[in-house]
Amino acid sequence: MDRDPHDEFPAGFFRRADEAADTEFYADDRFVAHIDDRAIRAVGLLYKQLGIDGSGSAVRVLDLMSSWISHFLTPPPELVVLGMNERELTANQQASAYLVHDLNADPVTPFPDDHFDAATCCVSIDYLVRPIDVLRDVARVVRPGGPVVCTFSNRCFPTKVIRGWYGISEQMRCHVVGQYFRLAGGFTEPQAMLCTPANTPGDPLYAVWAAVAGAPEAAAGTADDAAAADVGVSSGDAAAP
Ligand SMILES: C[S@@+](CC[C@H](N)C(=O)[O-])C[C@H]1O[C@@H](n2cnc3c(N)ncnc32)[C@H](O)[C@@H]1O
Repeated sequence: MDRDPHDEFPAGFFRRADEAADTEFYADDRFVAHIDDRAIRAVGLLYKQLGIDGSGSAVRVLDLMSSWISHFLTPPPELVVLGMNERELTANQQASAYLVHDLNADPVTPFPDDHFDAATCCVSIDYLVRPIDVLRDVARVVRPGGPVVCTFSNRCFPTKVIRGWYGISEQMRCHVVGQYFRLAGGFTEPQAMLCTPANTPGDPLYAVWAAVAGAPEAAAGTADDAAAADVGVSSGDAAAP
């Protein structure tokens, strides 16, 4: 039997203070911004630089762990938002379709293979208890060469975040998310970047992304002209997490 890749992490890494079903916690509407305006803009700029918003070539994009805002500067023609709260998802003005789906209960989504041109997951990867399984499925539903982007900051719902996220530095979180991609398989080598200026007030915005493997040439952009700063994760250019 294959070894569970989540076992590569220390015991208890994926446990949470609140182990109740996520349906309970997310039953309450939260029409709030989870990061500040600067970080939201950094997310939108990164999506644009990676060619996955409406100004690029991506047509069909999946926004995982979504809510009422998806942060695209220009939304892609088809944006499917997947999350836990139906009222938040139906209020998402950039979405063309939505799906309520608990990725912690079932990391496999109902989409066909190679269905999407790209996928995003904003400020939410830290809530997944089986992130490697989720990314494995994302590699199935995104076409070869399509970028898959996880962004995160330093805020969270403390009872729902995995315990492993708490005990590590922001830089180490980039490494952890990079390891998720590597252990999932089916991706090019992940890249990481701090997308907001280092050591400034406001929410930091980190990104880790990779392309789905199998394209003649990997299509995930390098975002090397992004407004990034050097934190050891990146020196303006994307770096290996
Ligand atoms: C901090 S919010 C971020 C929302 C949105 N991505 C944003 O950038 O504003 C976390 C989101 O993750 C979603 N989420 C949490 N647990 C989930 C799960 N088990 N399956 C799917 N989505 C989940 C929730 O619906 C919630 O909208």
